[in-house]
Amino acid sequence: MLVSATKMLNDAVKGKYAVGQFNINNLEWTKAILNTAQENNSPVILGVSEGAGKYMTGYKTVAAMVSAMIEELNITVPVALHLDHGTYDGCYKCIEAGFSSVMFDGSHFPIDENVEKTSELVKACHEKGISIEAEVGSIGGEEDGVVGAGEIADPNECKKIADLGVDFLAAGIGNIHGKYPDNWQGLDFDALAKTKELIGDLPLVLHGGTGIPADMIKKAISLGVAKINVNTECQLYFQEATRKYIEEGKDLQGKGFDPRKLLAPGYEAIKVIVKEKMELFGSVNKA
Ligand code: 13P
Repeated sequence: MLVSATKMLNDAVKGKYAVGQFNINNLEWTKAILNTAQENNSPVILGVSEGAGKYMTGYKTVAAMVSAMIEELNITVPVALHLDHGTYDGCYKCIEAGFSSVMFDGSHFPIDENVEKTSELVKACHEKGISIEAEVGSIGGEEDGVVGAGEIADPNECKKIADLGVDFLAAGIGNIHGKYPDNWQGLDFDALAKTKELIGDLPLVLHGGTGIPADMIKKAISLGVAKINVNTECQLYFQEATRKYIEEGKDLQGKGFDPRKLLAPGYEAIKVIVKEKMELFGSVNKA
């Protein structure tokens, strides 16, 4: 069932668990995540970066594929199709294309411009029943060409953006996209707690879920994080399984060259890591 992410995340705040956003790149990725969500009776958010949207030939293709797949696979758990780190124009394109949720990443704009653009997009989304995530304090690292410095968001600026009526908020707390460096300082829980105090029950989003230790994930959830984004870890699992298949020479045996066989280990590997994350986040049986 394609739905906005508002209710599933409000429920997560109340139930003290988080819903995973897993980024998709193609049919195999989408199928693996949807099937895993259904098998575990978990709500799920499919994230689409602007780069991935382009790769899949456009947002309309993505929206059509996801809606059709939900129907063909009989997926009954709540699924949100969400633009990840959207630009202003990208958000409008996804609103038109049939996404059920968007993120406007105005974190690199001065706060007044972030406020202005976010509040305009809140209106446009809510007119169509689409949920909207905003961001304050850029997430560090690089994802699909979006580079951030890894700032700690100012809790007062978070409050300012929260008051615009966004449905959930990404606040930078030292998290970064991709693998964490060895000298990473960890998440800034003081900043998270201060923000939570100011914004109340609004669901918070933790980007850069790859490689954050389980105890930090649990603490973040206890402090109001209700959505956790994971991208790189699925890519690494897919890559490792695919590499193993080829290194073992399986592509050279029988019809092992068939793309459906070649991509199967990667598909299974994504299912494993997504299930693991759903268990860690506590979203199993919360559909
Ligand atoms: P990772 O690639 O570090 O898991 O981050 C994903 C993310 O935050 C998507 O917005």
